[in-house]
Amino acid sequence: GRRWTEIGSLDAELADRTVLIRGAAQAIRPVSKKMVFLVVRHSVSTVQCVLVVNKECVSPQMVKFATGLSKESIVDVEGVVSIPKEPIKGTTQQVEVQVRKLFCVNRAVQNLPINIEDAARSEMEFEKAEQTGEQLVRVGQDTRLNYRVLDVRTPANQATFRIQCHVEDMFRRFLLSEGFVGIHTPKLVPGSSEGGAAVFKLDYKGQPACLAQSPQLYKQMAICGGFGRVFEVGSVFRAEDSFTHRHLCEFVGLDVEMEIKEHYFEVCDIVDRLFVAMFDYLNENCKKELDAINKQYPFEPLKYLRKTLRLTFLEGVQMLKEAGIEVDPFGDLNTEAEKKLGQLVREKYDTEFYILYRYPLAVRPFYTMPCYDDLAYSNSFDVFIRGEEIISGAQRIHLPELLTKRAEACGIDVKTISTYIDSFRYGAPPHGGFGVGLERVVMLFCALNNIRKTSLFPRDPQRLVP
Ligand code: 4AD
Repeated sequence: GRRWTEIGSLDAELADRTVLIRGAAQAIRPVSKKMVFLVVRHSVSTVQCVLVVNKECVSPQMVKFATGLSKESIVDVEGVVSIPKEPIKGTTQQVEVQVRKLFCVNRAVQNLPINIEDAARSEMEFEKAEQTGEQLVRVGQDTRLNYRVLDVRTPANQATFRIQCHVEDMFRRFLLSEGFVGIHTPKLVPGSSEGGAAVFKLDYKGQPACLAQSPQLYKQMAICGGFGRVFEVGSVFRAEDSFTHRHLCEFVGLDVEMEIKEHYFEVCDIVDRLFVAMFDYLNENCKKELDAINKQYPFEPLKYLRKTLRLTFLEGVQMLKEAGIEVDPFGDLNTEAEKKLGQLVREKYDTEFYILYRYPLAVRPFYTMPCYDDLAYSNSFDVFIRGEEIISGAQRIHLPELLTKRAEACGIDVKTISTYIDSFRYGAPPHGGFGVGLERVVMLFCALNNIRKTSLFPRDPQRLVP
């Protein structure tokens, strides 16, 4: 077949060579009846293609055809790479293509519901436009999500999902290098694992069932099954009632469960090293992607320490108290208190990534191990980026009698989880683990303001389509 060149690899070394490229006609800029510019895009790369009437190969009909193309139509362009006299504004590639042949592979509709260039504008552009009186179109979140296949074509969105892929990849690679085994647990399950009514109920061939709220009980059973250390990357379902910037009804859970030899801080150590390695990797290897996001949604790089800061829940309560905010030392922190504590920690310790541990037992799920020295508290922790939770974790109860007692105390019908509790009767090591929300990690690392931006096709309480 013919030789194709990726738009992203068009550079000065290809000058004077004939190339064949395919992409979307992002912009069509007629200059006259004899000349038209096409900006052709493939994934995150764009190149300017120039059609000028000449004797050999470009007819006035061809210029007319190019001018009449609809935006986002897929085109094949054959042409000669040239180096422009002046640097090109607004394309990623610094060379042009002098078009010899142009073929439309698939025409897009004439009136797109979203204009990609509008969807890619930053708040700053709007502010500037207000001053100059220029009329720019804002694309609202709902419109974006309704036409997600168009919306995700913007550079910031393309970058977001590339970063998401790297987060997932680093999670796997780090854990594999630490001797963890990747597993898959069922998503069709008989009941809730995290408590509450936030489950999607369904009919499983006549039996009541639901979609898994987390792999919690099964990843623990894998530890009972002798795997030592496990992880899972999988979909997690929560029938959330709250319509917020950080809750989805379906998200990707990054889960870890591992044996503990002496202290549940062994689990925190994994969190610590995993995330420092991940943030380092993103900063070093995803510069282009971070830049693309920064252009549309400016943000400061995440501040994090080489050794992740650990504070007890009560230290957090104390810091809040000193700042004039009273919180219940036996209750949970609400979103505002978490956010405020994030600010205080940043001011005092110069980090935006930290672990808060030893939570009150009353606010943690039934499977959480109480503190040996104070039954009002638990061997558990949450992890925060920029004052928002990305992880919750804990040591789990591996003693079947205590587990039964705690389940009953939390109002759980023990019969419904008898096979889980029985798993701890056959010899089960002390263990702990944590769960990470993938979309939250990407959202908060890049300081995006809405979790819908980091879910390709978000499911929220009001959205099942597309
Ligand atoms: O805090 P959660 O509910 O904890 C668990 O599921 C435990 N089984 C984890 C463990 O191993 N102890 O959820 C874990 C993480 C949260 O920290 C958050 O990042 C994310 O999952 N998360 C959500 N992300 C998006 N939308 C939602 N509705 C989320 N609920 C939790």
